[in-house]
Parts: sequence; structure tokens; C-alpha cells
Amino acid sequence: MEKNTRKNILITGGVGFIGSHVVRQFVTKYGDYHIFNLDALTYAGNLENLKDIEKAPNYTFVKGDITDADFINHLFFQNSFDGVIHLAAESHVDRSITNPLSFVRTNVLGTVNLLNASLELAKDNPNFLFYHISTDEVFGSLGKDGFFTENTSYDPNSPYSASKASSDHFVRAYGETYKLPFVISNCSNNYGPNQFPEKLIPLFINNIIQNKPLPVYGDGNYTRDWLFVKDHAKAIDLIFHEGNRGETYNVGGFNEWKNIDLTQLLCRLMDKKLNRQEGASEKLITFVKDRPGHDLRYAIDATKINQELGWKPSVTFEEGLEKTIDWYFDNQEWLDHVTSGDYLEYYKKQYQA
Ligand code: NAD
Ligand code: DAU
Repeated sequence: MEKNTRKNILITGGVGFIGSHVVRQFVTKYGDYHIFNLDALTYAGNLENLKDIEKAPNYTFVKGDITDADFINHLFFQNSFDGVIHLAAESHVDRSITNPLSFVRTNVLGTVNLLNASLELAKDNPNFLFYHISTDEVFGSLGKDGFFTENTSYDPNSPYSASKASSDHFVRAYGETYKLPFVISNCSNNYGPNQFPEKLIPLFINNIIQNKPLPVYGDGNYTRDWLFVKDHAKAIDLIFHEGNRGETYNVGGFNEWKNIDLTQLLCRLMDKKLNRQEGASEKLITFVKDRPGHDLRYAIDATKINQELGWKPSVTFEEGLEKTIDWYFDNQEWLDHVTSGDYLEYYKKQYQA
């Protein structure tokens, strides 16, 4: 069976940060596909992220919760998807520390519900594919040297990464036990437009605009590997179409930054953008209590996806950061909306069954 005959596709979490870029990529690039976007519209999901394509003839938004098995089974039965690209999740590490159970519910139970519903469709469709989007955090923490490869053992440290590791294991187990065709990718830290301002980069951009403190956890010497979100969306497109079934792919930016160095770079770029005196934003840096269980360093070895599928990041970090800063400046209303309860209530009511 040809790989490109999957045309009726369900994307979960598609109005969240990464999901919105993936949905747009698929809806605009593949006019002959139909893209269903299933999202519960939690605090992180925002319909405004896809305003530009919401009326496209090959696009349907469905409000719904992946933890509701009956609803999921019905949706799959009605629409006979050829493939699922699963991004819906609780995604913020700090929230997982204060409320681990909601991460178990969405990330583990929700994923298993989707896997069960997928088994039914895969029985009659040998071309069916379940594509699970995961994170490099499942590998735990690196020391000063080395990289995560596809063969690195899982060693999750936060409730978030434990829930993602568990969901990855369930996907693999359904592949082994029930022969469900699957592929998994594990990506490093994304940044770019539409990211909820609780994650480091959009939080700090927003705080600098508002002259609020920049809370750097611990000594700021923690290291992350940053990738522009549109490059991740391109990798997802490629893996969905060309990736080998039953395999995992690491996706990363070859772009490591210590949090403190990244914060200082952001401050310099923001001073320019705001016409502030050089050094003005740096004065906002405030070292605060560390995140419990804070992983020291993540770094992805993305050789496999590069050599097998020809993917590499296309946007440099400076370019990506400038695009991101410009986007938050041009979308102050978006920032006000996503941080306001009224807006969320309004949209949730619109899509109530
Ligand atoms: P996000 O928090 O911005 O978006 C998550 C989306 O899922 C939201 O639209 C939300 O409404 C939806 N959702 C949450 N619970 C749901 C439920 N029960 N039913 C249906 N929809 C629900 O997350 P993100 O940063 O875009 O991450 C997307 C995926 O990519 C996640 O699986 C995450 O683990 C993974 N990932 C994220 C990063 C990153 O840097 N952000 C890196 C690697 C992997
Ligand atoms: O590595 C991929 C992961 O990247 C994804 O799976 C997660 O969904 C995503 O949230 C992200 O996790 P991090 O915990 O790395 O991202 P966050 O933006 O929360 O934090 C980045 C680093 O900055 C981390 O070392 C913690 C630190 N930090 C974060 C915040 C929010 C601060 O120092 N201060 C802050 O206020």
C-alpha cells in the first residue's frame, strides 16, 4: 500500500501551540486531504490560532475530550480516519508538579482511548497510521556531555515526562501486541508564535514588554535545545508521510542554550525592539527558587531524521527569535485574550454540544 493514500486525518490538540502549526501545514499543503482537528479547548487551546484557515473546505474543527472513551469511539466510527497525529496533552512541567493527576488523565488515559479506537479502524485499513508526538524529556537529564539518540533509555523525572513516557510505552505496546501501525517522534523545546505565555520564551517576552521580573529558576545554568515550531511542523509532515512504521525519530535544533544566556539574548533583542537603553531589560532578571526535579540538560542527536528523511532545521535561532518577538508584538490582543478568563469562557460556550 502506498504511503500517501492516507487522506482523512485526525489531528488532536490542533489549536494548541504546535498543533496549530501542524494543522495549518496540512490544510494548506494538502488540498485533497480532509483534516479533522479535535481539541478540548483547555486554557492552552485557542481557536484564534487558526482563524485564517477555519473556513477551509478541507478542514473541520471538533470540540471534544480525548479522556471520554465513548465520544472518541463514536468520532472514529463516524469518520473512519486513515491516520491520527496525536498532539493533545497537558504540556507544562510546572503544572504537572502541582497537579500530576490531570497529566495522567489526558496524557496516559487519553492516549490509550485513542489507541483503542484506532485498533478498530486499523483492522479494516492496512494503511492506517497512529503518529504519536512526544518529547525529549522522556530520556531524563544529560550531564555536561552527550546527546539523546533514539536508543537512549527512558528515565523521566517530572510527572509531565513520566506521563509522556508512559504514553510512548503504550503506543509501542499496541504496536507489539496488536500490530497497530505507529510512529513516534521525540522533540526538543519548541518556540515561536502561538505559544502560551507560561513557557520560558513567551513568558519572558511578555514580562519584558510589561516591565515585570524575569524569574530564572535556580542559577540559570540549565540547558535546553531550541527548535522553531514551524521546523517541527515540517518534520511531523515528513515523518507522517515517509517515516518507517514502528520506529522513533528524534527531532531537535542542534541549538543548545543555557537559560541565563538565552534570557540575556532575549533582553538584548527586546531592548532594541522597544528602543530601550541597552541593559534595561536585563535589570528585570530575578533568580528564584528552583523547579523541583529540574533536569540539567537536554540535547537531541537528530542524525537519524536528517540522514533517513533529509530533514534539518531551516530557521536560525536569531531569525526564529526575531520572528517570535515580532509576532508577540503584533499580537498583543492575542496575549490579552489567552490570559483572560472571559475569552476562554466565550469560545468554550460556542462549541458546547
Ligand atoms: P499545548 O499545551 O500548547 O497544546 C495542547 C493542546 O491539547 C491544547 O490545544 C489543548 O486544548 C489540547 N488538549 C489538552 N487536553 C486535551 C484533552 N483532554 N482532549 C483534547 N484536547 C486536549 O502543547 P504543545 O506545546 O503544543 O505540545 C503539543 C504536543 O507536543 C504535546 O504532546 C507535547 O507533549 C509535545 N511536545 C511539546 C514540545 C514543546 O516544546 N512545546 C516539545 C516536544 C513535544
Ligand atoms: O524538551 C521539550 C519540552 O520543552 C516539552 O516536552 C514541554 O512540553 C515544554 O513545556 C518544554 O519543557 P521545559 O520545562 O523545558 O520548558 P519551559 O519553557 O517550562 O522551561 C524551559 C527552561 O526554563 C527550563 O529549564 C525551566 C526554565 N524556566 C522556565 C520558566 C517557565 C525558568 O527558569 N523560569 C521560568 O519562569
